[in-house]
Amino acid sequence: MMNKYHESVLLKESINALNIISDGVYVDVTFGGGGHSREILKHIKNGTLIAFDQDSDSLTNTIVTEKKFHIIHRNFRYIQDSLNTLGISKINGLIADLGVSSHQFSDNQRGFSINYDARIDMRMDNRSLTTGKFILNNYSKKNLNRIFRDHADFRNPNSISDQIINFRTNKEIETVFDLKSIFQASIPLKYQNKFFARLFQAIRIEVNDEVNSLKEMLDQTRNILVSSGRIVVISYHSVEDKVVKNFMKYGNLENSLQQDFFGNKLSQFKVLTKKPITPASTEINRNNKSRSAKMRVCEKI
Ligand SMILES: C[S@@+](CC[C@H](N)C(=O)[O-])C[C@H]1O[C@@H](n2cnc3c(N)ncnc32)[C@H](O)[C@@H]1O
Repeated sequence: MMNKYHESVLLKESINALNIISDGVYVDVTFGGGGHSREILKHIKNGTLIAFDQDSDSLTNTIVTEKKFHIIHRNFRYIQDSLNTLGISKINGLIADLGVSSHQFSDNQRGFSINYDARIDMRMDNRSLTTGKFILNNYSKKNLNRIFRDHADFRNPNSISDQIINFRTNKEIETVFDLKSIFQASIPLKYQNKFFARLFQAIRIEVNDEVNSLKEMLDQTRNILVSSGRIVVISYHSVEDKVVKNFMKYGNLENSLQQDFFGNKLSQFKVLTKKPITPASTEINRNNKSRSAKMRVCEKI
């Protein structure tokens, strides 16, 4: 769906992959502009759709005309507890379209984008306490190294962390342009956009604890998904994609292949996408932000 808030990615492909039954219970853990949710609702008659989003801005897109729709303003890491509160213990399918929406990205006050000189906030949920500014000004070198390595695959994060720590001994890192100014002299202009995109990704993932939230949510699907129920996840960078790929393959977060006494594989899930599904060139031409999307699907056995 095309709206100003967010243009949904892999819309048709993801809804097909969910294999919706009309009286099923479905969860869209990343409501955003509601594009995926609206499409799911078209396929369910007597079923229910529960959506999650931790950003209060997304609540303005809520679907008020639908009795079979509920939205929960909470991090999806609390999925099982939130569903229990609604009296739901089992679901037929779940979709996650990870990361930030275009709305969040293009808000010139929130600090997600490298293009606007906002305070480095980067919280999806403005009720949480940790901002990007806090991390940049308070994290130890070890912790900065960790986030740049783990959240953005920087092989040698030392010099990035050193330059941040150097800068902040004289002046607080307050805004997006403060942060960019630290590196502008040392990085060739043609590499700057890519570098900053990765740097900002690392900080954003840490602010929102995105990898842990994803892991915790996936782990709970093992209890709440019915057999033949499906999980569809669209991710936008390799750190997330790896978590999803391994969870679907092994059926657990430890990435250990469980086997029974006879050596039979015991994973609870059957992977339905050997290779991830990516947007067609027509979609990428229409919506450049979809270019890094990778969708993976599995089914509970
Ligand atoms: C890429 S957008 C989803 C767009 C949506 N599929 C659509 O079609 O409009 C991701 C949304 O998920 C929300 N989100 C990301 N991580 C979340 C989490 N851990 N818990 C709850 N909401 C989350 C963001 O606030 C954002 O609105």
